[in-house]
Amino acid sequence: MKIRLAQNTPAMDNATPGTMNGTMPNAMSGGMTTESRMNMMGLGPMIASPNLNAPVEQFGATQASMMRASGGPIPGLREAKPTTSAQGITNDIAILNSALVLEHLEAEFYARVVAADQARSFLQGRQRNAAVTLARDEAAHVLNVSEMIVKLGGAPIEKPPFQFPANVFLSPIAFLQLAVELEENGVGAYLGAAPMVANKDVLNFAASIYGIEARHTGLIRFLLGDQIAPRPLEQPRTIEEAVANAAPFIVKDIVMPAGTG
Ligand SMILES: [Fe+2]
Repeated sequence: MKIRLAQNTPAMDNATPGTMNGTMPNAMSGGMTTESRMNMMGLGPMIASPNLNAPVEQFGATQASMMRASGGPIPGLREAKPTTSAQGITNDIAILNSALVLEHLEAEFYARVVAADQARSFLQGRQRNAAVTLARDEAAHVLNVSEMIVKLGGAPIEKPPFQFPANVFLSPIAFLQLAVELEENGVGAYLGAAPMVANKDVLNFAASIYGIEARHTGLIRFLLGDQIAPRPLEQPRTIEEAVANAAPFIVKDIVMPAGTG
């Protein structure tokens, strides 16, 4: 299945990290004109504070400690078994591949930010530390999600070519503003996709990424001087919505592996 996501635009930088040749669009907050023809089901991304030590939440250790504290296995956890439904597995792989698109987007963005900062030091202190942490986590998420897809018998989608507005590699504020939009998109996508996940192991895995993405959002909001958690509940986004939000940053067609969408 071939999915056309977006055309390149003059304001975007899809060449080398930090190339400056445009301005930053407000692509993630509405007003998008990109018409997506995607049959994708999917999710989104995750993060860490300056003290984050792992790119995914440690659900295994938590489960073990919960079992110890309660003196035995927790019924709900023990009864959670992988689905054997072929359709369920197929849907889960499609969801994970949509998540992988968002993870690739984040990983590429932060890698380019770090490279641009190494070239001309446009970030300072905590901003630089955050960029390095975010780049590390998102690269790990790409691997984590890819491995889960393979584990389910699927084929991970290849990384598409990305483009970014040039000022995100020049202005710390522009970098942070795009970062928080990407992270919020991921948080909303993972949450929105959760009810569609068939396999509870996949759901648990996605939750471990979701938690880190939410921490990333808080970290970036802190650096922007905003409220870390501006609302009591996260807002879910549909897969289609989340992938459409990513579309302006993708410069050409994505070819989804057979059976993933
Ligand atoms: Fe991520």
